[in-house]
Amino acid sequence: MAIYSATVTSPVNIAVIKYWGKRNPSLILPTNSSLSVTLSQDHLSTRTTIACSADFESDRLWLNGVEEDISASKRLVNSIGTARALRASEEAKNPELAPLSQYKIHVCSENNFPTAAGLASSASGYAALVSALGQLFELPQSTAELSRVARVGSGSACRSMFGGFVAWRMGEKEDGEDSMAEQVAERAHWPDLQALILVVSDKKKAVSSTAGMQTTVETSALFAERVRSVVPARMQAMEKAIKERDFAEFAKITMQDSNQFHAVCLDTYPPIAYMNDTSHAVTRIIHAYNAVKGYTAAAYTFDAGPNAVIYAPKSEMRDLVQLFSYLFPRDEDVLPEVFYTNPFGLVGAEEV
Ligand code: DP6
Repeated sequence: MAIYSATVTSPVNIAVIKYWGKRNPSLILPTNSSLSVTLSQDHLSTRTTIACSADFESDRLWLNGVEEDISASKRLVNSIGTARALRASEEAKNPELAPLSQYKIHVCSENNFPTAAGLASSASGYAALVSALGQLFELPQSTAELSRVARVGSGSACRSMFGGFVAWRMGEKEDGEDSMAEQVAERAHWPDLQALILVVSDKKKAVSSTAGMQTTVETSALFAERVRSVVPARMQAMEKAIKERDFAEFAKITMQDSNQFHAVCLDTYPPIAYMNDTSHAVTRIIHAYNAVKGYTAAAYTFDAGPNAVIYAPKSEMRDLVQLFSYLFPRDEDVLPEVFYTNPFGLVGAEEV
């Protein structure tokens, strides 16, 4: 009996305007638009193979070599079910198509970065899953349309469906039809921009993004203000900065948005503190670095954890890696580990 299969690799993305808050948790509709940079798939990505066959008896999933229960995850069931429904409607239009929508699937998914690095992200995982399903089922939907399917797996995943600079438009419709990702600029538009990843802690975060953002929506007055009066203008200014390759403006908005996101987390009740002392030290180091240079040479951003992502022009990377390697030496077993990305690919600092 025939086995049909597809393999896709999807990268991680790091937001410069943060998504934090859902107006509809089951459809994963956000309270604000967001914007991210998709990193290179060379080092921080998920590779997923999906096979289906009339012979398979159940849906099965292996994550990094360990079998997991698909049915335990509502989000997995939702994304696979949505892709199957799209395939079924194609089969209804064309009876010559093999009835793949009725076959059971086997999913095998692996991250090419150490899960222990604390950078594991649902974004690359769901983007790879949905892209592979799109290929396997030969779905006619555009990448933007498929990003809606990735979104129901994990919000930030919709942005990893594209490379380069990507906006997730929050949309207005109640069914989420217009809440999807869109590429703002290709990666090649700004090759001089690079990312450096500082692994500050490899511990699992205490409060998941999903739970944390829900408490924020319910309790933070600062969050309401952010959504209403800050993010819309910032989205516009950030898109302009990217189009003009204006690093000073890009950096300022990136740092301000990261800071406001973490301020909103602290304004949540009970408060959520994702950054630790090392993270705060990194912010001070970057501001001092910019002051010494006399121009904006680097920017930091932090997601729902203490690890830092530093964006900077290529010409700054050597200095930055040397500085962080000096301040946080790896041989003393003191984190952060420093990774240099080239461009947006992850390489050990010692190779620089
Ligand atoms: C801080 O996409 O992981 O990284 O939609 O509940 O799966 P769910 O949340 P998730 O949240 C990511 C939050 C963030 C900011 C961002 O990536 O924009």
